[in-house]
Amino acid sequence: MPAMSLNAVAQKLMTPGQGILAADESEPTIAKRFAKINLPSTLELRRDYREMLFRSNQAMQSYISGVILTEETLEQSAADGTPFRAILADADVVPGIKVDRGAFPMPGDTGEKITEGLDGLRQRLARYAELGAGFAKWRAVITINDIAPTRNNIRANAHALARYAILCQEAGIVPVVEPEVVGDGEPGNHSIERCAQVTAEVLENVFKELRLAGVDLSGMLLKPNMILPGINSRERPSIDEVARRTVEVLREQVPAAVPGIAFLSGGQTDEEATAHLSAMNQIDGKPWPLTFSYGRALQNVALRLWAGRRENFPQAQAAFTHRAHMNSLAALGQWSN
Ligand code: 13P
Repeated sequence: MPAMSLNAVAQKLMTPGQGILAADESEPTIAKRFAKINLPSTLELRRDYREMLFRSNQAMQSYISGVILTEETLEQSAADGTPFRAILADADVVPGIKVDRGAFPMPGDTGEKITEGLDGLRQRLARYAELGAGFAKWRAVITINDIAPTRNNIRANAHALARYAILCQEAGIVPVVEPEVVGDGEPGNHSIERCAQVTAEVLENVFKELRLAGVDLSGMLLKPNMILPGINSRERPSIDEVARRTVEVLREQVPAAVPGIAFLSGGQTDEEATAHLSAMNQIDGKPWPLTFSYGRALQNVALRLWAGRRENFPQAQAAFTHRAHMNSLAALGQWSN
């Protein structure tokens, strides 16, 4: 079979009514999630947890187009020895890989972060392509506080995203470009208006750098935040306001050549993340399809029900399948509570 073009893979990830499961929590992050349910982060528990998700057959076959994996998971097998990649292939799900090495403090004292992982990335991508990865993810973290984001930080992160994206395309892998303007960080008291302004500026810089680097916009996906007030703000915008403002910013900044936009959930409740996506999809005249690329908003309930025990797989899988189904409806603009 000839290799699919970058655009064809991007389109497949954007199959109507499907979205991406972000299961690429780094070791520190998964340890944090497990600690909340009093579990240690062992290799075996991480494997069991991800096996529970990937063996949710109905969700995987019907609602999920791609899964973002960690390096560990890309080469890992289920308890019975079946490689995870084979389980995903059976469900016709595209395997993806998180390739950044995390966000580290920027020099200076602005509280900002810069994402690292470019050194040796070309070689790593060649290996991931051999292992069958169809797409990749790199997350830039943009902080809002009294003095941030600075232009320096926005430019540095945008430049790194562009260098990552062109290396992915060279390796035949679709880059998912994720500039996250963080809403659930500290102090988290910014207004929705400030989030809109910062997100617009960030996206403008990201697309400038992507073009400079020669990235083919038809062979990538964008993974942005929604336009929301900070988690500690007292503003309570309606679902429709969030949807309207988010689509407005994206319309101004995201070229129509981009084949799709897949949002992160960023600490929203499960239901908010679903409601916002559905409301955005009810707005007419957008040049790109919108779907989900959620981590927490797909996994929160399933993680708690699993609780570290294989005998809880069925309940946990039912919960995950329910959230995936609701987000599938939202991706079609058909969800209602
Ligand atoms: P959340 O949906 O939990 O924000 O995670 C998505 C993700 O991949 C962040 O990089």
